[in-house]
Parts: sequence; C-alpha cells; structure tokens
Amino acid sequence: MAGQRENFGSRFVVIMALAGSAIGLGNIWRFPYMVGKHGGGAFILVYVLCCLLISLPVFFAEGILGKSTRLNPLGAMKQVAPKWRWAGYMGILAAFVITSYYSVVGGWSFDYLVRSVFGGFSGLSFEASAGIFRQMSSSAWECLLCFFIFLSLTATIVALGVQKGIGNFSKVMMPLLFVMMVAIAVRSLSLPGSRDGLDYLFKPDFSKLDLPGIAAALGQSFFSLSLGVGCIITYSSYMKESEKILPTSLWAAFFDTVFAMLAGLAIMPAVFSVEGLEPGAGPSLVYETLPVIFSRMGPVIPIVFFLAVLIAALTSSISMYEVVVAWLVDEKKFSRRKAVVAVFAGALVLGSLCALLPKVFSACDFATSNIFMTLGAFVFSVVVGWKMPKTVAAETFGSRIYPFVHFLIKWVAPVAIAVIAVTNLL
Ligand code: TRP
Repeated sequence: MAGQRENFGSRFVVIMALAGSAIGLGNIWRFPYMVGKHGGGAFILVYVLCCLLISLPVFFAEGILGKSTRLNPLGAMKQVAPKWRWAGYMGILAAFVITSYYSVVGGWSFDYLVRSVFGGFSGLSFEASAGIFRQMSSSAWECLLCFFIFLSLTATIVALGVQKGIGNFSKVMMPLLFVMMVAIAVRSLSLPGSRDGLDYLFKPDFSKLDLPGIAAALGQSFFSLSLGVGCIITYSSYMKESEKILPTSLWAAFFDTVFAMLAGLAIMPAVFSVEGLEPGAGPSLVYETLPVIFSRMGPVIPIVFFLAVLIAALTSSISMYEVVVAWLVDEKKFSRRKAVVAVFAGALVLGSLCALLPKVFSACDFATSNIFMTLGAFVFSVVVGWKMPKTVAAETFGSRIYPFVHFLIKWVAPVAIAVIAVTNLL
C-alpha cells in the first residue's frame, strides 16, 4: 500500500518544500511587527527559545508521525492512536479553513503585484494608498477575482503532484525568494534613518516582555512553522525511507527564522526612514504603508516585494491544500485530480465568504490560530511521546540524540503548551 506513495526526489527538495510551507505571510507581516511590539531583542530571544524547546520538538513529532506511517494526518492518528483520531480530523479541517482565508490574502498580493507592475504606487501619498487598499478590499469582484486566481495557482501546483508540482515549485522558488528579500533588505538598510528600524527590531527591552508576549511568541512560532494541522505530517509522509528527520527539520526551521529576520530588515528600516511613521500591523503595514515607502525607493522594489509576498504565500498555501488532498486520496480513495477539484470547490465557497464578510474572515483566523493549532500541536506531541512505542519513534527519527528529543516531545512541549495556553486564557 505504501509502496506507490509519491516522494520528494532529494534532501534539497524536502528542505525547500518544508521551508516553503513554513515561510509565508506569517514571516512577512506578523513577525517584524510582533518583535517591535513585544520588546525587540527580548522577544527574539524568547521566540528562539520557544522554537528550540517547544516548536521544534512538535515539528519532529509531526515528522515522525508522517514518516513512520506514510499517511495523511487522519490515517497517521488512526494507526498510532485511534482514540485520538479526532485530532486528525481537526487538523484537516483547520488546514482547509486556513487554505480558504489565506488564499484571500494571497489574492491581495497578486492584485498588488499587478498594480506595482503598472506603476500604480509611484508618487502616492499615505492617504491615497490607504484609499487604494480600502477600495480594493471592499470591491467584491476584484477580491473574488484575485482570490480565484490565487486559489487556481495553488490548485494547479498541487494537481501536478508531490515531486513534479510541489517539489519542483519549491526547489526553484525558495532560493529566488531569498535572493529577492536580501536585495530589498540591503536597499532598505542603506536608507538614512535605518538605525531606528534596527533599534525597533533588535534592541532588547525586557520590560515589554510580559506573559501575553511569551504566548504570542509561542503562537507565532507554531504558525510560522506550520504546526498543529498536519502540514508537516503530510510532507514528511513523502520523505524517502532513507531521508533523515533531524537535518531536514533543522534546516527548514533555520531558514524560517532567518527569513523572518530578513523580512524585518527589509521592512522596518524602510518604515523608520520616514519621519514620524509608526509601523502598523498586518494588512495595513503590508498593503498601505509599504507600497508608498517602497515605491519611493524606485519602481522595481515594489514589484520585487509583492512578487516575494506572492511566492511566499503560494508555497505555504500548497502545503495546506495538500493536507486535505492527501486525506481524500488515502482515506477516501479519490484520484489526485478529483481530490484537487473537490478541495477547490469547497475552498471557493468558504474563501468567497471570507473575502466578502470580514467577520467570517476573522472568525476563521481566530479559531484556527488560537484553538485548533494549539490543540493539534499538543496532541501530536502527546501521541508521539506517550502512545507510539519509543523504539519505533527512535528508529524513524534515526539519530543518536533521540532520547533527548523524546524527553522534549514527551514532557517539555506538552507541559509548556498547556501551561502557556491556560495561563493566557485566564
Ligand atoms: N507557516 C505559514 C506562514 O508563516 C503559514 C502556514 C502554512 C500555516 N501551513 C500552515 C499556518 C499550517 C498554520 C498551520 O505564513
């Protein structure tokens, strides 16, 4: 049964696909802002600690689940811990929901790429730029059209298959993405006043680091590493038998963090080079402030930037789409093509609702990133730590340091997730 499963051709492709899933809108519009808000270098320190002690172990646990069972998240749970199979369903549902609303935002980046190609931002004031964003996000047909295009691109890549579609796309686009971000960061750092941006990002201010800040660091690292919904389970199920979990996961997580910092270096110095400007968050930062600042740096910079945002979003959305497709193929015996069409139809409905109704959009975002992902990450680490025979986990992991990793998966990650989630709710 497992014999015919498609796989990623080489280690490089595995790493690029995993990094492609991880690197996305989360790195570009959430990380730089959160760092500034929660105490600069102090937040980065906590973020890196969260990654090493909690998120990476969860990443390993998902890797072990996927590689040992060679199945989608539900199939993996059914095989390893049938009583916990609801977490598999929850992951697939969450992946579907995230695909839908994420594609709406991905559509905006497509819209903005087209606008910047036609020079739509040159000489723009901040007010005019905010106006463009308002007009775009309230123009139903424009949002729906761009959402449709983005979702179609995602579906096409997934339809081409694991290696031919996802693998090849990631292998080519991820290095390109890095080059583009480095170029913008270099340009941005050369602006006068860029020092303030660096201070905002890196100067540690431990007084701003409170419990919500720590919870935010953990949540951000989960979102950024694509944890809790089974993306990593699914991609790891396409690893070759001989592939190793430790190096592939470490490289992917390393690139994810490096890219988040790079995005910060591209964005914040540019923002602070304009006197009196405060970095906003999320949509307003990326779609209102940045077009103005970047187009002042020359006509090419906005094009490069929005192309980078689009590529980053695409390599992430394919990883969520693939979770649902893998489930339909493994469990419901769909052909890949039929599965892609079914997910497309569903995401078209939910995504259109998200595009048209801001309330649906934020409800989807809230439920997935605050509840489903945390719960999923908790269950995946508990299942590997407590339900899977340790010898099987160790053998799948394939490294001598497994006993130490096992301790992190079994105790540190679940306890820390539970403590942080509960204290944050109180
Ligand atoms: N990690 C991606 C980002 O930073 C988004 C993403 C992809 C994701 N797959 C996911 C988030 C699974 C949560 C769960 O933008």
